[in-house]
Amino acid sequence: MIKKIAVLLLALSFLFSLPQARATAPEPVRARHGMVASVSAIASQVGVDIMKRGGNAIDAAVAVALALAVTWPSAGNLGGGGFMVIRQANGDAEIIDYRERAPLASSRDMYLDQDGNVIKDASTVGYRAAGVPGTVAGAYLAHQRHGKLPWAVVVEPARRLAAEGFAINLHLARSLRGTAKTLAQFPDSKRIFLRGGKFYQEGERFVQPELAATLARLQKNWRDFYTGKTAHLIAADMKANGGLVTLNDLQEYQATIRKPLRGSYRGYEILTMPPPSSGGAHLIQMLNMLEHYDLNQMPFNASDHLHLLTEVMKRAFADRAEYMGDADFVKVPVAGIISKKYADELVKTIDMQHATPSASIKAGVPTTYEPTETTHFTVIDKAGNVVSNTYTLNGSYGCGATAKGTGVLLNNEMDDFTAKVGVPNMFGLLQSEKNAIAPRKRPLSAMTPTIILQDGKVYFAVGSPGGPTIINTVLQVIVNVIDYGMNLQQAIDAPRIHHQWMPDEIRFEPFGLNADTRKELERRGHLFHKRAGDSGATEETGSVIGDAQGVMVESATGIRLGASDSRRGGKAIGY
Ligand code: DON
Repeated sequence: MIKKIAVLLLALSFLFSLPQARATAPEPVRARHGMVASVSAIASQVGVDIMKRGGNAIDAAVAVALALAVTWPSAGNLGGGGFMVIRQANGDAEIIDYRERAPLASSRDMYLDQDGNVIKDASTVGYRAAGVPGTVAGAYLAHQRHGKLPWAVVVEPARRLAAEGFAINLHLARSLRGTAKTLAQFPDSKRIFLRGGKFYQEGERFVQPELAATLARLQKNWRDFYTGKTAHLIAADMKANGGLVTLNDLQEYQATIRKPLRGSYRGYEILTMPPPSSGGAHLIQMLNMLEHYDLNQMPFNASDHLHLLTEVMKRAFADRAEYMGDADFVKVPVAGIISKKYADELVKTIDMQHATPSASIKAGVPTTYEPTETTHFTVIDKAGNVVSNTYTLNGSYGCGATAKGTGVLLNNEMDDFTAKVGVPNMFGLLQSEKNAIAPRKRPLSAMTPTIILQDGKVYFAVGSPGGPTIINTVLQVIVNVIDYGMNLQQAIDAPRIHHQWMPDEIRFEPFGLNADTRKELERRGHLFHKRAGDSGATEETGSVIGDAQGVMVESATGIRLGASDSRRGGKAIGY
């Protein structure tokens, strides 16, 4: 009898342990009311707390953006810019474009020497690399149009984090140390972020009194950044260090409201970012091409799947290099690029057995012209308002300089312009005359904050940092969910590839590509980015691709799902 009971117990315990043993998939975070996914657990919590106090997703997004400027200074910012895609619960959607603008004193050839060659580091390091920052104007505009809580309340968590400090996590400690060479060139940056050379360790408290004082001024009046004490401090420091941004530039900066770019993929509706980002147009263009194939019949991460993705990426990035720029200044054929008819033509050139060398891919002819270290976070509230926001200083810690007396790191977004046609920028991107520098113009971006709808309701929202890899990261997350049926966490964590037409090479993540698959892709003619150990390998060899942050609505229950990329230590938090 005892033996029988023992066997029964054993069988039962086996049965109960089964679901656990089978649960191999990482699951998104689940919550009933609201969710924030960002690269910083502290910032995600700030967003949740704002919603618990009665704020909506826009209040939370603004609070998260300001908090990230404190807790994730490599990309979170006051001195940079970005894009916020907002879809309200009533179905209205709009974008706050708070991208940096070129200063009034900027000019087409400002980064070239007398012989017409690009001056090394001129558009990436130091004050001359900075565009006019847009983040504070964007945050205020979003809040003014949609926020529920008082402005001072949404600014307060960031001010407090800067004043009282927070514990540095492993990722921030690493990133500060990793950028020491650039930051050390600028006295305020060296003192604040490198503690004069005594690097912050994981777990140590990081207090930023000047930034707290700046945030306190903005809390009283956001215009302080553009016309008040902060503006004067920035302009004076710029002048003292050869920067171009003047008080006049700051005073006339304005964030802009845009309509989202719309596309569709296998019946799902895509809301995403129009120019001055190239991201949304090329995302839709690539999805349009992929729609011609039964992707879900191609095993995940196997050669056909990766071959097809690569071919699609090359064609989109060839167009990017030819056609893209700030559509407020130059004609950009967005409608043509995102048209299904154009994709029908492009896919005719794809050979599933042979890679098309990039050199033989010229930009297509999308005829319809329109009439005239980044971070992403995503928020959903209990009413169903959604915010998908990507913003940046461009490079990690921007141009490296902190405007004296403000604690505000300045961007190096000017490098996103074409310094010289035919010369790649810091992301290796070739860009055309359309993206040439001109006063007030916005540099071309790849940022792709996106929202996906199903039957007119929010299905999920996602975005990522990573320069040009952003567009391909968002593409792969969408395909992973829609074609491969992955849950949002799996879709975000799955290994990714990247191809940007030029250089003609596939980039892949450490342990992200099976050696047999690589061999098969090489047989088809694909070339690969050099890896650690290969001769000629570069510093960034072996780095991960992107850092996606997403939220989703479980259609059967309305439960909010959150997924933060496992690549950079972020966190999704709900309530
Ligand atoms: O706007 C862009 O496309 C770039 N400035 C983004 C830079 C970026 O994502 C760097 N982050 N890893």
